[in-house]
Amino acid sequence: TRSTEETLLAAIRTIVDYPKPGILFRDITTLLGDAKAFSLAIDELARPYGDAVLDKVAGIEARGFILGGAVAHRLSAGFVPIRKKGKLPHETVRVAYSLEYGLDEMEMHKDGVAPGEKVILIDDLIATGGTAEAAVKLLRQIGADIVAACFVIDLPDLGGRKKLEALGVPVQTLISFEGH
Ligand code: PRP
Ligand code: MG
Repeated sequence: TRSTEETLLAAIRTIVDYPKPGILFRDITTLLGDAKAFSLAIDELARPYGDAVLDKVAGIEARGFILGGAVAHRLSAGFVPIRKKGKLPHETVRVAYSLEYGLDEMEMHKDGVAPGEKVILIDDLIATGGTAEAAVKLLRQIGADIVAACFVIDLPDLGGRKKLEALGVPVQTLISFEGH
């Protein structure tokens, strides 16, 4: 039987030169559309926390919502969305973060997590770690206890894992692409 890693790797589609020349885009829509691979990814993301007392799973818009919602259900935890700015109706905390071109902001509801609650952060992929770092800042601003940050895909050459670990956040990834 194929290993978990092989199954997940085989389910991810690589698009050459998207969104621009020289970039290899790791497309998880094929993984999401494959019932076995999707379920395996959710099981593997959730597995280390099966016995932990977790309050919330925080998912990062947009791809982190799909995985985070499923993981929250799997762990019988609540789900809290971390969104691109301007989408949340109640009082929020907000943080600026840098993208390839310029700055953006993301936010979450102030009461999305209560102080001291245990949270895992979920996204599909960690590259530079800028997105996840912003999410960590938001969660910490409202006093969340971040148990770990979990991703299906690591692009280790871009340094995101190290950035999060330097912030004291344990990082869990299922597969990695060297040389991105
Ligand atoms: C992608 C990916 C991660 C982030 C990783 O999201 O889904 O969230 O980039 O990059 P980083 O580690 O360098 O910050 P994107 O911003 O493209 O948006 P989407 O999830 O809404 O498609
Ligand atoms: Mg994303």
